[in-house]
Amino acid sequence: MTATLDAPSAAPVIPSFDVTLKVRRYLPGDDGTGEPYWDEFTVRAHGTDRVLDALHKVKWEEDGSLTFRRSCAHGVCGSDAMRINGRNRLACKTLLKDLDIKKPIIVEPIKGLPVIKDLVVDMEPFFASYREIMPFLITTGNEPTKERLQSAEQRARFDDTTKCILCAACTSSCPVFWTDGQYFGPAAIVNAHRFIFDSRDEGAAQRLEILNDKEGVWRCRTTFNCTEACPRGIEVTKAIQEVKRAMITRAF
Ligand code: SF4
Ligand code: FES
Repeated sequence: MTATLDAPSAAPVIPSFDVTLKVRRYLPGDDGTGEPYWDEFTVRAHGTDRVLDALHKVKWEEDGSLTFRRSCAHGVCGSDAMRINGRNRLACKTLLKDLDIKKPIIVEPIKGLPVIKDLVVDMEPFFASYREIMPFLITTGNEPTKERLQSAEQRARFDDTTKCILCAACTSSCPVFWTDGQYFGPAAIVNAHRFIFDSRDEGAAQRLEILNDKEGVWRCRTTFNCTEACPRGIEVTKAIQEVKRAMITRAF
């Protein structure tokens, strides 16, 4: 008997289309000054492409000087937060098919942090606040001779805030942060929350004291921009409220 093989099926054709990106650009002069301006690029794309893919096409095929950050390209490293059509998003998690591609897609750097070039901002003020809240486990006494145990319930208490990837989408969407950049910002508070409610940690009182500052949690105006912006789905505003409550009740 002769075996017959099915003819290989043709690869599915994924429709392509033109998409225009309108990008806010900035090139500092030698003296550190320069005027921002808008640049438009039209590239061929597929519905399965993300905004990051379209930016790559521009950079690799049209204008190598276009500057943006990215690393993992899969929503893990947090390096490509930008404003896309007026909302903070990760370029690698924003599918073109979910945007109105009949109009140019507006791409800008996140707000409230100094722009270094094009879509790249200086993250140092953001990380300075993060460092201030001591984002590490604080314990006293001898090194444990075995794992520090924790119940599933105790772990669940701060599970949501462990998901942060430090992309700054929340902090740079906050109108209070935009005013003077002095506010600690949602991301620092989220990361304080992650340790304040960890049953193994002994630094909660110190962190609450740090955030009980005039630039701390009390500057939050509960606008929920941060929650809306978070690509990890963290309930950012809720975490801030829980830190405020812990400050008053000292229950953590
Ligand atoms: S809380 Fe969400 S938006 Fe804010 S830095 Fe972390 S991952 Fe990004
Ligand atoms: S490139 Fe890493 S999160 Fe987008």
